[in-house]
Amino acid sequence: MKKDIEKILLDEKTLAKRIKELGQEISNDFMGEEIIMIGILKGSSIFLADLARQIDIPVYMDYMVVSSYGNSAQTSGVVRIIKDLEENIDGKNIIIVEDIIDTGLTLSYLRKSLMARNPKSIKICTLLDKPARREAEMVIDYKGFEVPDEFIIGYGIDYAEKYRNLPYVGILKREVYE
Ligand code: IMP
Ligand code: MG
Repeated sequence: MKKDIEKILLDEKTLAKRIKELGQEISNDFMGEEIIMIGILKGSSIFLADLARQIDIPVYMDYMVVSSYGNSAQTSGVVRIIKDLEENIDGKNIIIVEDIIDTGLTLSYLRKSLMARNPKSIKICTLLDKPARREAEMVIDYKGFEVPDEFIIGYGIDYAEKYRNLPYVGILKREVYE
């Protein structure tokens, strides 16, 4: 896998340090309360597992699988829920946990659709933010890092289902996907 990596952007130590900070920030913001972390599968699974262990208030975990309608090159912004939440979020504090926000269309749609279920609060947490291609304006409440407009892989994030198990975040060589 290593030969496919153009550059390592965030190594294990850098990721761990920032995730610890995010965990402390979330713990402070919700002190005395409970939160449901909603992981968007599969990309956020490794980030969520590490982040949850840096939070010292009660954390419940639930997961969704979503997919954009149409081909991936032209995101329509309408997402199909492949796997829905198992728990009712009425009156609960929820934090949507994403791996990377690119156009923002997926999350802005998802946020709206979860809002209709009357949670007490909704926050958005993403490990990576790729602001260059943003189409849907959105507030990111907890953000790990900004990344350049390149194809990112590792630490949960894939290209064609590969590279998720890399312990770092890197840029994929163009020749792999072109
Ligand atoms: P968007 O914000 O609606 O454009 O889509 C975000 C989703 O696209 C993320 O959850 C990822 O699954 C995927 N994605 C966006 N950029 C990348 C990337 O650089 N590498 C791998 N997946 C990406
Ligand atoms: Mg994703």
